[in-house]
Amino acid sequence: MTHNLLKGKKGIIFGALDENSIAWKVAERAKEEGADFVLTNAPIALRKGDIFRLGEKTGSEVISADVTQVDDLENLFQESLKILDGKIDFILHSVGMSPNVRKGLHYTDLDYNYMMKTLDVSAVSLHKVLQTAIKLDAINKWGSVVALSYIAAQRTFSSYSDMAQAKAMLESIARSFGYHYGRRRKVRINTVSQSPTVTTAGKGVGGFDAFYNYAHCMSPLGNASSAQCADYCITLFSDLTRMVTMQNLFHDGGYSNMGISDKLIDDCFVCQGDCHERDNE
Ligand SMILES: NC(=O)c1ccc[n+]([C@@H]2O[C@H](COP(=O)([O-])OP(=O)(O)OC[C@H]3O[C@@H](n4cnc5c(N)ncnc54)[C@H](O)[C@@H]3O)[C@@H](O)[C@H]2O)c1
Repeated sequence: MTHNLLKGKKGIIFGALDENSIAWKVAERAKEEGADFVLTNAPIALRKGDIFRLGEKTGSEVISADVTQVDDLENLFQESLKILDGKIDFILHSVGMSPNVRKGLHYTDLDYNYMMKTLDVSAVSLHKVLQTAIKLDAINKWGSVVALSYIAAQRTFSSYSDMAQAKAMLESIARSFGYHYGRRRKVRINTVSQSPTVTTAGKGVGGFDAFYNYAHCMSPLGNASSAQCADYCITLFSDLTRMVTMQNLFHDGGYSNMGISDKLIDDCFVCQGDCHERDNE
């Protein structure tokens, strides 16, 4: 069902790698709701090629940009303003990557060069995007920026590794820049903290199936899908949420406010009550 919520709006969507990507679903929904946008991803993702199919489907140009490279971002914004014939109204930052997670390094044995890369790609990049946008005055008044986060920013998820620090920093940048961009241009900036979702980045985290199943059993509404996440992002890009900014918004079926659920007790929890004794041996 479409409501023309983004009719006449223009944007830039970061992070559509393949059809499972959250950014892919957001692009499809944004098109349905009447938006025009540019798609962007890292050069290596463009070589994979799927994003061009999405470009054809949504009538969007694709521009290569490594989100850690300010030169790439400046070029992306300048080209996008030309292609879209004016300033933009929304940005989706749907980017994350940890070399430590990729290499399977334990959290107590991190490579610090990799960790800096994790933070640069997954968090500082949001600052780089916003700083480039504000310098070029690329976003219209009452524009909206959304970045994707995860609850490991607040709670410990043992195998989420240095991505937890990246998400905490990402949410902090959304708050800090949200203040300055709000004061200067009424641009709003929020993070959406999404349920575990079956994507390339998601499946890369150790024990992803347990993350996914546990969250599903814990949440009264179950896990939120990528399509539902896209719906939520559309509302945040629309004029219906103009006064929402500097927030981390949980889109997780209720998971973030749960302690334990009936489903976990009745169906999923298999401990026979002896594990604490074994742990203390
Ligand atoms: N999948 C989940 O369980 C889940 C849950 C909560 C939040 N998120 C977040 O959602 C966002 C999107 O991830 P996804 O799950 O759709 O996976 P995905 O793998 O489809 O998307 C990650 C994207 O980041 C891009 N990227 C990596 N390095 C880049 C760089 N240097 N420059 C530009 N782009 C780069 C990749 O090419 C890819 O398109 C990420 O921030 C992720 O942490 C995912």
